[in-house]
Amino acid sequence: MKTVIIGTGSFAPPRVVTNDDLAEIVDTSDEWIRTRTGIVQRRISEGPGTTWMAAEAAKRALEDAGVRPEEIDIIIAATTTADYCFPSTACEVQGILGAGNAVGYDVSAACSGFIFALHTMDALIKTGTYGTGLVIGADNLSKTVDWSDRSTCVLFGDGAGAAVVKACESGDRGVICSQLGSDGSKASVLTCQARSMGNFLTESRPEPGYIAMEGQEVFKFAVKKVPECVDSLLRDAGTDIDEVKYLVLHQANYRICESIARRLKISMDKIPMNIDRYGNTSGATIPILLDELNRQGKLCRGDKVVLAGFGAGLTWGAMLVQW
Ligand code: ACO
Repeated sequence: MKTVIIGTGSFAPPRVVTNDDLAEIVDTSDEWIRTRTGIVQRRISEGPGTTWMAAEAAKRALEDAGVRPEEIDIIIAATTTADYCFPSTACEVQGILGAGNAVGYDVSAACSGFIFALHTMDALIKTGTYGTGLVIGADNLSKTVDWSDRSTCVLFGDGAGAAVVKACESGDRGVICSQLGSDGSKASVLTCQARSMGNFLTESRPEPGYIAMEGQEVFKFAVKKVPECVDSLLRDAGTDIDEVKYLVLHQANYRICESIARRLKISMDKIPMNIDRYGNTSGATIPILLDELNRQGKLCRGDKVVLAGFGAGLTWGAMLVQW
């Protein structure tokens, strides 16, 4: 049994925030942000959060797939910025869509989340447990950054992406293989403390947590681990990198993607980018980019595509898909 992506969708809030807008609230500049990261603007939610974006992306993916909500068996949402600790984003989206026959739950792997969610979905589909699934990557990081910290607040944006998948018994299309990894010994490199008000035994109320990042450590980790993971994935699949049309990489920093391209000895033509328009939307970057490629008609039947992400945990993952 193969897991085939039959539809994609994405959504980002309408409000555009440029680098110049940010230069009005922190000591930064368009030039610094563009040259260090490749980001020109990002979308920021003015109110509604992760569930709203996830549901909008899901509706578009279902429409693209020609699948009705009641046909979905399972919804897996990847997010680290759910609107609530509970219910899960997946259950909320299930309610909004009216996907009454589905089971829904979330996975947490930060910026690698969509790959982790799709890998989990693939495993469940391969075993025949479910037939039609909805995988979502959605994050609302603008609500978890410290807007007075210029070293982090300029990097992120809000958005969501989704893919509808279906079990197919025959044919070459679908997920070929995937690999995931994590290294908890490096957990402190990139963190966002959970909101906690303490309890009646706590002497003081904890401060609300914000994203804290050792930027250069994340940079070094990404440019080493992602090429290693992609190499290993392709070796397992017996696929040469020349056979791969696109590497759809997590959009954290243009320079990280350039460095990955150099290490894999491939041209940047194989690495589509949209970080200039969205910034880093964490678990949403890969499905948003995949949806853009799909809607632009850049993915043809038979094309091989690698999806690869990295993020807090530290976590990383890659997946080879035949379109
Ligand atoms: N505007 C102007 N100056 C800034 C800004 C800013 N927004 N942010 C930091 N600086 C300053 C610093 O204060 C420092 O000044 P100093 O030399 O006077 O001390 C100087 O710029 C250099 O700071 P560095 O942190 O060394 O800058 P670096 O070149 O490493 O770039 C960056 C920082 C862009 C974060 C880079 O390390 C990076 O991309 N790291 C990867 C991490 C990443 O992409 N994280 C995204 C989220 S994680 C994920 O998606 C997995």
